[in-house]
Amino acid sequence: MAGLIPQSFIDDLLNRTDIVEVVASRIQLKKAGKNFSARCPFHNEKTPSFSVSPDKQFYYCFGCGAGGNALGFIMDHDHLDFPQAVEELAKRAGMDVPHEEGGRESRPRPPTDSPLYALLEEASKFYQQTLKSHPSRKAAVDYLKGRGLSGEIARDFRLGFAPPGWDNLLKHLGGDSLQLKAMLDSGLLIENTDNPEKTKRYDRFRDRIMFPIRDTRGRVIAFGGRVLGDDKPKYLNSPETPIFHKGQELYGLFEARKNNRNLDELMVVEGYMDVIALAQQGLLNAVATLGTATSDEHVKRMFRLVPSILFCFDGDPAGRKAAWRALEATLPSLEDGRRARFMFLPEGEDPDSLVRAEGTDAFQARLHQQALPLAEYFFQQLSEEADPSSLEGKAHLATLAVPLIDKIPGQNLKTLMHQRLREITGLQTDPGHSNANANPAKSETVDTDAYYYDSSPAFPDTTERNTTSQSFTGYRARESARRSSAPRQSSRTSGVESPTLSALRTLLQSPRLAGQVETASHFAADGDIYTQLLVALLEALQKNPNQSALQLISRWHGTEQGRLLRALAEKEWLIDASNLEQQFFDTINNLSARQRERALEQLLLKARQTELSSDEKSQLRELLNRESSPAKPTSSGA
Ligand code: UTP
Ligand code: MN
Repeated sequence: MAGLIPQSFIDDLLNRTDIVEVVASRIQLKKAGKNFSARCPFHNEKTPSFSVSPDKQFYYCFGCGAGGNALGFIMDHDHLDFPQAVEELAKRAGMDVPHEEGGRESRPRPPTDSPLYALLEEASKFYQQTLKSHPSRKAAVDYLKGRGLSGEIARDFRLGFAPPGWDNLLKHLGGDSLQLKAMLDSGLLIENTDNPEKTKRYDRFRDRIMFPIRDTRGRVIAFGGRVLGDDKPKYLNSPETPIFHKGQELYGLFEARKNNRNLDELMVVEGYMDVIALAQQGLLNAVATLGTATSDEHVKRMFRLVPSILFCFDGDPAGRKAAWRALEATLPSLEDGRRARFMFLPEGEDPDSLVRAEGTDAFQARLHQQALPLAEYFFQQLSEEADPSSLEGKAHLATLAVPLIDKIPGQNLKTLMHQRLREITGLQTDPGHSNANANPAKSETVDTDAYYYDSSPAFPDTTERNTTSQSFTGYRARESARRSSAPRQSSRTSGVESPTLSALRTLLQSPRLAGQVETASHFAADGDIYTQLLVALLEALQKNPNQSALQLISRWHGTEQGRLLRALAEKEWLIDASNLEQQFFDTINNLSARQRERALEQLLLKARQTELSSDEKSQLRELLNRESSPAKPTSSGA
């Protein structure tokens, strides 16, 4: 074998290649808006349903489902295998194709293999064991009991105790120099090199209650440690390490999801003890940032798992500031169908103290009554900063609000927020206001200087004051519809995977299944990109059945689809393989049935209004005759 072509080279190659040029040198393209269209070279058609996107650097046919990047196009069009297609493109770009020596795996080792995981697991076991049996455990146990925690909760959160002394863990885990290095890298040990003659190493965590911080897969990646009394610092956390990035992790997320895979809402609180006290009281959906502000990254993570986030902060100035930062971090993730709420607690209380004082029901009732929808909190807060009772205040308020509102990706919420801003200020600030729904495309960038005074009546009488909370009506239904039809790329970390994504994953694992699907193109017209991707893979495999998962992924390399496929391929399977195949065929059959229904509906509707063309008539006939199950789980016959 010539050896593998390095991934980095393919990156480079695709970066230097323009798919439009590649395709245009082979078939006639016509400009159609941002994209180019043509009659599909891969199936017979009269009207063009083949489209090439210069932005996304991929092609897709809505007629037959063929699709991929420039490499995929050349493979299919010129009937080349993957290395040949790479050679061809490289020739165009004037590049030499390098080959890696030998067949050895050359990818950098994924962080999964980091020795730190095992080490931290060991440490966590040690701290847990100490809490159970160390001679000095009593103070720690009393402390936890004093804070109202049961043994079960302590076990569920794997609480532990780092005993007093400088080298308990060092002695327990200690070993060769490799082990020492790992302990330093993981932040469990501290090294003092002040005296070069004599390097001192000692345990970072001493005489503290230990809170293991776990990643979403449950692996211990860091610790927080609390003093038993009032010493400072109250909490000590692991430093940043190769596997722990404080600004991205959420304490309690693993536990919350373990308890309930279908969470509706996550509650963000400030501290470790808040998470645990809420869990102790039966509220198992709390997570905490680790002494940092809520980041965009945190919010993205949560919205991958739930449609709703409730931020729960102190009512004091620090809490208010933290809430506003959380709001700012949330805006860029607010697709329609997602929501965030803000809850401010009475001065001097935190969720831990409050839920223990008033009990679960009262606490929940409080959330229910007092949590503010993001939009409401937004305008309340801004109205405090810029008093809208004066013209100057109105102008200032709009200046503050517009750039923030325009961060919202959800068109409906964005429009409603602009409407509300207009109610308050009389300023028309939304350039796309006249037909927000008629134009489903993403909004263009907004020129925030372009406000103008609107002389027409502010808005129709039917508009209710509280438009923003209305925007949320039915969010759950919409959200679940959205989830099933268009799961997000990032559902790699989500427990709930849509059937389409599962089918994609199954196909990557067993490409031969494509041979048992007869007519993938029947559902090629389905709108969402996951279905399109599935059809494209089926098409590619049917043309060339001997492709590996890697080759399939390469077809989409460098595109969003490619990243999704890679993520899917890397994800571990927890479900039995035979179930997966069944699921796969069910999904194909469902998609096909749905597509058939839709197409039938459209044609029948049209037939009632006008005479169908002969093309449409034969299409209708074909649909009515179409076999309802294009995919068969076994080869038991047609
Ligand atoms: P708080 O000071 O509000 O403490 O810190 P708390 O959670 O109410 O603690 P208890 O109830 O006295 O045990 C909130 C969070 O800020 C981080 C921790 O993550 C803590 O949970 N923090 C706080 C630190 O990292 N270091 C500190 O010294 C204090
Ligand atoms: Mn507290």
